[in-house]
Amino acid sequence: ACGGGSKTETAAASADGSAAAAKTYVVATDATYAPFEYTEAGEVLGFSKDILEAVGNKEGLQFKFVNTPWEGIFATLGKGDADVVSSSVTITDERKQSMGFSDPYFEATQMIVTGAKGSDVKSFADLAKRTVSVQNGTTGDLVMQKLQGKDSTNIKRFESMPLALKELVSGGVDASVGDNGVVQNFVNNNPGTKLNTLVDPSFEKEFYGFAVKKGRDDDLLKKINAGIAAIKADGTYDKIYAKWFSA
Ligand code: ARG
Repeated sequence: ACGGGSKTETAAASADGSAAAAKTYVVATDATYAPFEYTEAGEVLGFSKDILEAVGNKEGLQFKFVNTPWEGIFATLGKGDADVVSSSVTITDERKQSMGFSDPYFEATQMIVTGAKGSDVKSFADLAKRTVSVQNGTTGDLVMQKLQGKDSTNIKRFESMPLALKELVSGGVDASVGDNGVVQNFVNNNPGTKLNTLVDPSFEKEFYGFAVKKGRDDDLLKKINAGIAAIKADGTYDKIYAKWFSA
C-alpha cells in the first residue's frame, strides 16, 4: 500500500499564475487483470483504461493510473490516495453502501475453469465439495462462499487472479472461479494447459463500474457518467470494445 502522500497532482500554474490548472485524477487499478487492466513495460493498459481515458477526453478530465493491489484498493478512495478505482469492479449493493459507482461500462459473469483434476465438474453445484481458487474478496469469492459457506477451507484465496489460476494449472485445486473475460483470456493464452471453461446458468449478470468516494456523486461521477453516455452514443465505446474483444 502507499504511504499517504497527496491524492492529486496539479499541473504547474501558468506563468502569470492566473489560469486554473487542470487537475489530474489519480486512478487506482489492480493491473493484473488482462485484458481489462494490466501492464506492459511498466505502463498500464487495457479495456477499462481506454474507456476511462475516452470518458476523460469527452469531459475534460485527466487521469493518472496507479497500479494498486486489489486487497485494499477500495480503501485508497477513503484515504484519499485515489480519486477513482478502475479495476473491473462489479457494482454490488454491498459495495454501493461504502462507495459511489458510475453507470456500468461492461457486462460480465462468473466462469468456472477446470483442469485434469476437475474434469468431472459439469455444473456449479458440482463444486460444492471441491477445492476452488479465487481472487480474495472478488465476486468469484462471494459466489463460492454462497455455495460452500464463508468459512469453507476448500476456498483458496489469492491476492490476484493470475495467482489463483496458477494454482489451478499446478494442480493445487480442482477449479477456479472468476470473471469470464479474464478467465477466458488466460485460457486462450495458455493453450498447453488444457483447461475447460463453463458458465453455469445460475450465475448472475455482473456490471463493471468506476468507483469513487461516496459523496462525490455530484461532481466527478456526474462527469464520468456523462462521458460514458457520450462515448456510447458516438461509437467510441464500440471501437474500444472491438479493439479488445473482437476475434
Ligand atoms: N469483478 C470482480 C469483482 O468486482 C473482480 C474484479 C477484480 N479486478 C481486478 N483488477 N483484479 O469482485
